Amino acid sequence: MKYLFLAIMTLQSFIMVAQDNAFYPGKIVPDDRGIHINAHGGGLLYHDGTYYWFGEHKGAHSSAAFVGVTSYSSSDLYHWKYEGVALSVESDPQSDITQGCILERPKVIYNEKTGKFVLYFHLELKGQGYKAARVGVAVSDKVTGPYTFLKSYRPNAGIWPINMTKGQRLDKTKASDFEHRGNKDWRKAVVDGLFTRRDFSGGQMSRDMTLFVDDDGKAYHIYSSEDNLTLQLAELSDDYLSYTGKYVRIAPGGRNEAPALFKRKGTYFMITSGCTGWKPNTARLFTAHSIWGPWTKHPNPCVGIDARLTFHSQSTFVQPVIGKKDAFIFMADRWTPENPIDARYIWLPIRFENGLPILEWFDKWDLSIFEKD
Ligand code: GAL
Repeated sequence: MKYLFLAIMTLQSFIMVAQDNAFYPGKIVPDDRGIHINAHGGGLLYHDGTYYWFGEHKGAHSSAAFVGVTSYSSSDLYHWKYEGVALSVESDPQSDITQGCILERPKVIYNEKTGKFVLYFHLELKGQGYKAARVGVAVSDKVTGPYTFLKSYRPNAGIWPINMTKGQRLDKTKASDFEHRGNKDWRKAVVDGLFTRRDFSGGQMSRDMTLFVDDDGKAYHIYSSEDNLTLQLAELSDDYLSYTGKYVRIAPGGRNEAPALFKRKGTYFMITSGCTGWKPNTARLFTAHSIWGPWTKHPNPCVGIDARLTFHSQSTFVQPVIGKKDAFIFMADRWTPENPIDARYIWLPIRFENGLPILEWFDKWDLSIFEKD
């Protein structure tokens, strides 16, 4: 009996790690060692025929960073090879990225001009909860690293967003003028830049984030700012290591997190979540004809069962399938804060209906779905 039980367990673990050419959203995704991929809140980079997946290494008991950013590689998006730690947290307690800091949503882009790989992430300084709201920047000559940490800071100190009016810039209203957050007057003040002004000299808050490289090679950092109430989109310098100073506010007061941006037929799409921490909520969809906006909000792109909760997940990235026309994969995280390492990946194909993305659940799917349109 005991041996039968052991045989079943072995068979079961074999089935769990056996990887065929398909995606199983919400199931364990084993790497080449048979270990569930540990790259949460991540993003992909396609470089020289290979996809690289970067994400947060998480432990079993804490969501804080004790390892850093991990990377994996794949030629087909189904089979992933562990490539090690791309950016390590540091043992020096003085370092911004000391062990135990919060390091989230890493994204890597490649700079054609400098030949360097540039990694951006959301950083919270150790022991300060989510107060610091900084962006971190690291760089490497090699795609899988090791990445060298350069700096962490709040973007665009002393610079106004280009879509903030003169009246909004000069407004003297302060957060302390309001007895209660959340009432109508406060909401209007937020829309009018209450927190943009508060953070003007020290730099804008930067939490959940992504990077996007446009067809012309210009890159953008999109981040939840202003107490997570408003998204900002900032243009990066030619070497991608700093900002040009040109930035906009998007959906002021809309409470958007987890931005994932992509482009199709000249239209920019952005899928985001609301702000409910690790708990899933309803996804949001925005489109724009210029990256600078205006960004138009559309209804929830998810349909079918559990559409209201984004299939129990939160967006992190959208990856075009290279070599296939109009093929995009929506990537999201199903968080398990009680056991962060076990969080699952929800990858779903994006279907377009009347030019807008639609997301529906599949227990199992593969890339041939894109040929069926
Ligand atoms: C989520 C965010 C995650 C993480 C979490 C912490 O809203 O998207 O990246 O910061 O909150 O509660």
